[in-house]
Amino acid sequence: MTATVLNGAALADERKATLKAQMGAFQHTHGFAPTLAVLRVGDDEAAAGYGRAIARNCKGSGVAFRSETLSADARQADVEAALNGLNRDPSIHGIMLLEPLPPQIDHGALVLALDPAKDVDGVHPLNAGRLAQQRLPYFVPATPAGGMALLTHANVELQGKQAVVVGRSDIVGKPMALLLLHQHCTVTIAHSRTRDLPAVCRTADILCVAVGRPEMVRGDWVKPGAVVVDFGTTYTADGLKGDCHFESVAAVAGMVTPVPGGAGPMTNVILMENVLQAARLATGME
Ligand SMILES: NC(=O)c1ccc[n+]([C@@H]2O[C@H](COP(=O)([O-])OP(=O)(O)OC[C@H]3O[C@@H](n4cnc5c(N)ncnc54)[C@H](OP(=O)(O)O)[C@@H]3O)[C@@H](O)[C@H]2O)c1
Repeated sequence: MTATVLNGAALADERKATLKAQMGAFQHTHGFAPTLAVLRVGDDEAAAGYGRAIARNCKGSGVAFRSETLSADARQADVEAALNGLNRDPSIHGIMLLEPLPPQIDHGALVLALDPAKDVDGVHPLNAGRLAQQRLPYFVPATPAGGMALLTHANVELQGKQAVVVGRSDIVGKPMALLLLHQHCTVTIAHSRTRDLPAVCRTADILCVAVGRPEMVRGDWVKPGAVVVDFGTTYTADGLKGDCHFESVAAVAGMVTPVPGGAGPMTNVILMENVLQAARLATGME
């Protein structure tokens, strides 16, 4: 069997075209563009690169972008003051904290200090809790939202299906498990302490992997015909790799997302959709 490849790049392009039109309409109505601010502390190259990628993503989507950077020796109080400034600024609709942060900075405390109404990354416990209880409004982290959008677009039937999510981070694994549960899957969450992970994965009709170990999931971990969503992104000497060994998985699965070109592009467009949602909420449009 050769799997159908779920083309995230193509779906992201489609959504971006719709989004750009919606952004244009918003700007026309309000006289300003939805605006995303990123807050970075120190000169970590990964955080800086991520900030540049977000800036490009904003530019391509009609979102205004602001970046605030504090020095590597900034104190917690300095960072919280900068964050509070962004929280209070009515011209900012979305805020993202870029990681990694210097060791003296308490990331959890910053997340709690973030205005939940501007938390377009869906990291604040209020958004996570509202998602868990399906109490709108809330922001869904963009990566799992993108995975779900790919499944929906491919008309994958979810109700009653056995789903396995490998990874339990607050930003990918847990929200993905909740989204699948809300669509009436029977969900198992696996992680680093799971016993016999290949056997657990083989129970999945829908297998979602968010671990960060390149090519960990092999074809013989996959139930024939299963739908596999690979969130993993690791830069290796051989290029960007997902958590699944694509060739062997695609030989067994019914559908599979590629890396690159699967979940990644969807994350980018859905983050921008979340900024528009935040701006609409702030202006009473939703
Ligand atoms: N496509 C995108 O746009 C996008 C966005 C975000 C993240 N990602 C990628 O998705 C991957 C996961 O990101 P994350 O932020 O969720 O990572 P994370 O916070 O490091 O979480 C990784 C999860 O994988 C589990 N794990 C680690 N080793 C394992 C093993 N050998 N077997 C089973 N589970 C194992 C961990 O289990 P424990 O909890 O037990 O430690 C943890 O729950 C990374 O490759 C990341 O780059 C992609």
